[in-house]
Amino acid sequence: MIEYAADPGPGSGRRRPRADFTSDAPRLSLNGRWEFRLAETAAGTGDQLLAADDPGWDTIRVPAHWVLEGHDRPLYTNTAFPFPIDPPRLPAQNPTGDYRRRFDLPSAWPAGRTVLRFQGVDSCATVWLNGRLLGHSKGSRLPFEFDVTDAVRPTGNLLAVRVNRWSSGSYLEDQDMWWLPGIFRDVELLARPDGASDDHFVHADYDAAAGTGELRVDADVPGLVELPELGIRVATGETVRLEQVQPWSAERPRLYRGTLTAGGERIDLAIGFRRVEITDGVLIINGRPVKLRGVNRHEHDPDRGRALDRETMIDDIVLMKRHNVNAVRTAHYPPHPEFLRLCDEYGLWVVEECDIETHGFIYAGWQGNPLDEPEWRDALLDRIDRMIERDKNRPSVIIWSLGNESWTGRNLAAIEDRIRRRDPSRPLHYEREPSYRHSDFFSKMYLDLDELRLIADRAEPTPDGVEAGSDDDHRRRGLPFLLCEYAHAMGNGPGGLSDYQELLESSDRFAGAFVWEWIDHGLTGRTESGEAYVRHGGDTDYRPNGGSYCLDGLLFADRTPSPGLDELKKAIEPVTIMIDPEAGTITVRNRQHTAGLEQLRFRWHTEVDGLPAESGSLDVPDCRPGQRASVPLPRVAPAETGETWLTVTAELAHDQLWAPAGHEIAWAQAQLPGPSTGSGHGLSTTTPELVEGQTTITLGPATFDRGTGSLIDLAGLPVTGPTLDLWRAPTENDRGQGDRNRLAATWQAVGLDRVLHRTDAVHVLDGELVITGRSAPATQPFGVITRFAWRWDGSELRLTVDADPVGPWQETPYGKHAVTPPRIGIRLGLPGGFRDATWFGRGPDESYADSRAAARVGRFTRPIDALQTPYPVPQENGNHVDTRWLQLSGDGLPALRVTGAPLFDFTARRWTSEALAAADHPHQLEDSGRVWLNLDHGQQGLGSASCGPPLPDRYRLPIRPVRYSVMITLD
Ligand code: GAL
Repeated sequence: MIEYAADPGPGSGRRRPRADFTSDAPRLSLNGRWEFRLAETAAGTGDQLLAADDPGWDTIRVPAHWVLEGHDRPLYTNTAFPFPIDPPRLPAQNPTGDYRRRFDLPSAWPAGRTVLRFQGVDSCATVWLNGRLLGHSKGSRLPFEFDVTDAVRPTGNLLAVRVNRWSSGSYLEDQDMWWLPGIFRDVELLARPDGASDDHFVHADYDAAAGTGELRVDADVPGLVELPELGIRVATGETVRLEQVQPWSAERPRLYRGTLTAGGERIDLAIGFRRVEITDGVLIINGRPVKLRGVNRHEHDPDRGRALDRETMIDDIVLMKRHNVNAVRTAHYPPHPEFLRLCDEYGLWVVEECDIETHGFIYAGWQGNPLDEPEWRDALLDRIDRMIERDKNRPSVIIWSLGNESWTGRNLAAIEDRIRRRDPSRPLHYEREPSYRHSDFFSKMYLDLDELRLIADRAEPTPDGVEAGSDDDHRRRGLPFLLCEYAHAMGNGPGGLSDYQELLESSDRFAGAFVWEWIDHGLTGRTESGEAYVRHGGDTDYRPNGGSYCLDGLLFADRTPSPGLDELKKAIEPVTIMIDPEAGTITVRNRQHTAGLEQLRFRWHTEVDGLPAESGSLDVPDCRPGQRASVPLPRVAPAETGETWLTVTAELAHDQLWAPAGHEIAWAQAQLPGPSTGSGHGLSTTTPELVEGQTTITLGPATFDRGTGSLIDLAGLPVTGPTLDLWRAPTENDRGQGDRNRLAATWQAVGLDRVLHRTDAVHVLDGELVITGRSAPATQPFGVITRFAWRWDGSELRLTVDADPVGPWQETPYGKHAVTPPRIGIRLGLPGGFRDATWFGRGPDESYADSRAAARVGRFTRPIDALQTPYPVPQENGNHVDTRWLQLSGDGLPALRVTGAPLFDFTARRWTSEALAAADHPHQLEDSGRVWLNLDHGQQGLGSASCGPPLPDRYRLPIRPVRYSVMITLD
């Protein structure tokens, strides 16, 4: 039994780390069904593991996590260690999986050495082959190998692996994610023919000024390097100068394929020529500043956890490329090596991060933090070595990131030194160390725009713990900046992406930014009745528990893009199109790094009131990165009435690996001047049909309750409302994090979620039915005076809403902000028979004040049920800003059309906001039998305060009088 528990060391008996590569040497995959038993302590099943004839074991698939295969359960914590902080020791309760695999060697297995490779085991593996102990290894997301030449037999091999859920290595793996033990990446046996090269290092440099390249492939044994396309046939270690070569970039991932032959093996080479430099505080690749428009990617699948297959990796990359993402930070560990091979091929800039995070030491005041303790040095360096050695030949990897959120300490210098000596060609990133002495980037997370503006000017405040004017202070100001996490994509959001992008594009100091994060870490759950739902941390009975904080991605857990991803795609367009109707021009700005516009074709079309009118293509002259090209606006015949909108799109001209020709990359819209842009809904002065009855008042098709002034019937349709609505089902961003953001808590504390309404008067004035009243929460001295004025002109019913805040809204005991309501509008209850919504405004997907760039002006039709965005934690969703008109229809019902003056926001759903807020999971939302329609003057923005700055004031609803009108017609 290996006493790893008392040992912070990284492992024993393993081979030296080396480059990952594919070759023609025989390989035997040991993936598949293994025998399996789970025990409660680190001792596992004891000697039973090695007993050759011991029947009655369960079986389990490999690669997989046992907690997702019906054994024990997955746990989720954000920063908390699920064990006491007493490094490197662990509790006796340490679920341990004993695994066994029997195998024979294929008959043609060559002479030479045989290597057993594990691509990833979480968290500590002890390995025996045929009863012989090979060694053990920690470092879950990194490979390890044993030389098994002397232990392996032609037939009847028994491979036995004991996997402990917790080990000293767990102290270095406190990333914000599920704790998922098991053999979760491939296991394979590799033949190493005599004389074969175990390790090689490709040095492929590109000189942008000269257009030349330089290649040298170093190897541990002499070999032959062949790249037929470049006419190269040289010995390893020899430098070749190339007069002309095409560089590798994320936009044009030019790989030169060839081989390295040594002994009896041909190794595949996929070489990308490129140069990464930092010059004058700017990240330069191939001679040009680069802008990383990135995402943080965890490996996640709702059923397989971090055991991803190749198709899923490709899905991720294709989705990223199709959404204009050009960079990935492998948060917070090296991914499966195949993912990086695919990044080389498809083209993504990669910041590869090491599997190091000691975040939970924050609860010990950082006392004993492994980053600072000499006894952990080897374990840290081992992880660094295994990352660098494995992935050093990947052109996509442009930056090494030392780890995440591990504060600082004495071992950082050794880590830095280790990487610089081995690979001086890539800059280093580490965010959490205030001096930034060991990082080539200044880097932060979740900054607000004001903080970023200062950084753009290299005028940021000196970090705490650093002396102003010191060498560190000067050096840091000279570094490029990476916003390694921002725009926390939890629930509905993030808002503000366009604001961030505008700023990020404004300074070359900004090397780029990475949205947190790519995908929700939701797991497939089943209710007792078998209904599927998305399970998060809070659905496991375990403490400490990170709750739903693992659901903060741009993709839902099943990889369906959320509206946030479309918003990101729009915000980070690599070409921007500006339409200037007054100047009569369309200007295209090329924001790419390498490519001209030759891969794109441009089209335009017009719509009048959302209906297609004219279309054509645009001949935009090519222009280099950083430059603009302009063309005249197409000649469009002005429409007689209505709004004419011109849309210009840029799409792929040819098929790419990641999308077919015609895939849209960028677009812009502008309203063209026309003879009439109004809605055409002026009020006529037809005699009002107002009839006052005993208990009701009728006005055209509308019947009101005489006492309350509520609308009760509309042309035979039972209706409730309108009531003033000041609340929305809080989003997770409304709930915020920490004291900086208490929006939802404030609404709840003051009672915006339970506003009481009063009618003061119902009277008829100049043919208008006027209902005045007051809406306010219990306990509070403040409220809103309401005035609903109804008028019927013979064809349409016009409601004018006045909402005047009264009382001390500004004085709240809840932090520095006044109470600002998330919504100001009215709510109507309509018959449940309404099924479809058609509207002219922004769509088709949801939009909010600070998340509306991806929503175009047009005419859209959707079933009401499809207007709901199924956030796995129910919350406000499905809003549409800038609505001109909305029509609801359903079988056997008159169509109900609402036209705004001015534009309005709408949501329509089969449950109320209260029901939405009360549900824990979408499957708990029940059709109330009504359609609840909100016609709002506005809603506040989304922000990303679930981890980040508070929602900027300009996206809140100010406390001031509001007036707007809606016109209702029935067909
Ligand atoms: C960061 C951290 C991420 C994640 C995020 C919040 O501080 O690096 O791993 O926890 O916050 O979702």
